[in-house]
Amino acid sequence: MNDAADWWRNAVVYEIYPRSFADSDADGVGDLNGITSRVDYLRELGIDAVWLTPFYRSPLADGGYDVEDYRSVDPLLGTLDDFDRMTAALHAAGIKVIVDVVANHSSALHPWFKQALAAAPGSPERDRYIFRDGVGPNRSEPPSDWQSEFGGPAWHPAGDGQFYLHLFAPEQPDFNWSNREVQDDFITTLRFWTERGVDGFRIDAAHTLAKDLTEPFRPWAEIDKTVPLADGSHPLWDRDEVHQIYAQWRAALATYDPPPITVAEAWVQPHRRGRYAASSSLGQAFNFDLTESDFTSRQFRDIIAHNLADADAVNSAPTWVLSNHDVVRHATRYGLPLQGSDRGGPAQRWLSSRGAEPLLDRQLGLDRARAAILLLLALPGSVYLYQGEELGLHEVVEIPDDARQDPTFLRSLGASVGRDGARVPLPWTSVGPSFGFGQSRPFLPQPAWFADASVQSQESDADSTLALYRAAIHFRRLRERMPLEWVDAADEVLEFTRGPGWRSVTNFGARPVALPSGSVVLASRAITDGMLPSNSTAWLT
Ligand code: NOJ
Repeated sequence: MNDAADWWRNAVVYEIYPRSFADSDADGVGDLNGITSRVDYLRELGIDAVWLTPFYRSPLADGGYDVEDYRSVDPLLGTLDDFDRMTAALHAAGIKVIVDVVANHSSALHPWFKQALAAAPGSPERDRYIFRDGVGPNRSEPPSDWQSEFGGPAWHPAGDGQFYLHLFAPEQPDFNWSNREVQDDFITTLRFWTERGVDGFRIDAAHTLAKDLTEPFRPWAEIDKTVPLADGSHPLWDRDEVHQIYAQWRAALATYDPPPITVAEAWVQPHRRGRYAASSSLGQAFNFDLTESDFTSRQFRDIIAHNLADADAVNSAPTWVLSNHDVVRHATRYGLPLQGSDRGGPAQRWLSSRGAEPLLDRQLGLDRARAAILLLLALPGSVYLYQGEELGLHEVVEIPDDARQDPTFLRSLGASVGRDGARVPLPWTSVGPSFGFGQSRPFLPQPAWFADASVQSQESDADSTLALYRAAIHFRRLRERMPLEWVDAADEVLEFTRGPGWRSVTNFGARPVALPSGSVVLASRAITDGMLPSNSTAWLT
């Protein structure tokens, strides 16, 4: 593979949640022109690419992951011309563009779904989605007891004795991926955005498209508990046939030079991830293990070693992810006594108690977050950043329930607080109506502490988290192709070199440790007397 096609292997990719990034037209919602207005900021950060979560026309039942028109820009976010201008500005700054493909489901307002509801059972219109007859008296019971990811039944009544399947919210009906028109339409969408200049696609819920809908449907308790995503035999998740779909996509994309990259969002067992990362499938897959682990040397060491080996085994590149728009921000996870699994784990539980107990140690969380990113940026592979982490942002806990928008909050009737706390519009300035996000009240309320976390307040501070990210990303670029070698170190320490001129040392322990010889080029906490403080990373040359 030539260099141009290989750019993703060591890329630093910055995830933009467009509604929360920058608002150019004072409606409280971020937009594409807002992104264009911040290209200088992105260039200065030093990233290689941005990944934009969905900006397509959407009724917003799930933050845009309910798409009404796959080849459009939502009017709230701009126009296709705005998209072209944004892409040109990013490209001119040397930044590539990755967009999201939401292929498991559309919005219930997608014209095809409206046609399906209006058409008769058994019609070609219904065949694009997954409709089945209800059971019981008057066919009023769902076809099975399957549960949706966002809580509640996975089947929704169509109103005429049939039900449709939705793995997520009822406003997100699942496509039938055995249907030829569905297959062809997604190829058309991939071509559409490629021809508009995008450099890659992030594939949403990549493990869910293929389904085994052989009847009788097995009871949920049996499929969900006894076969937990382990071996490809779950009827809904991680089925082997899904890779046939991706082989077709990759064949279509291979007709472009260089072909756009594809990266899988697949929440699967670690040993199944390589199937998505293989070049015969999507070529790269997110590794979310660090979003579900504690800040300990043992867990980091294991995850890093496995991730490197797994990516290598399929000639892919590892991915490093600490945060995204679906998980509790890692500064907050790392500031809680127990971190562990974010999905339903301690951080979510703490948030769902509305932060009732004063458990969060913000400084500890930030120290660890800074240590973690410096460690990851020293590794080979692609690092996926989530907007605002370069400011060291914590999760926003202070969102009143009546301002929350996430369907996981709404469908659990508040039992699970959901993901809004990671999606609060960014603070660009320390003062102003929405801390420089825009000219009016943002669609999710920002907390007062955003003033000190803003870009403006960090820009002139050489010790700020923003300065650390900028310096680390720029330094990494010069040496990212050097081979990694582990160095034996104390239990609480992870140390490795990249070629002769770059050593990374992380102290996960509670006490300072002596640094090896060399000169410190960057450190996540101040070094005194050659000692690396607890919860910190230093780079040496
Ligand atoms: C994963 C996306 O990241 C998440 O935000 C969304 O709710 C689900 N897929 C459903 O599309």
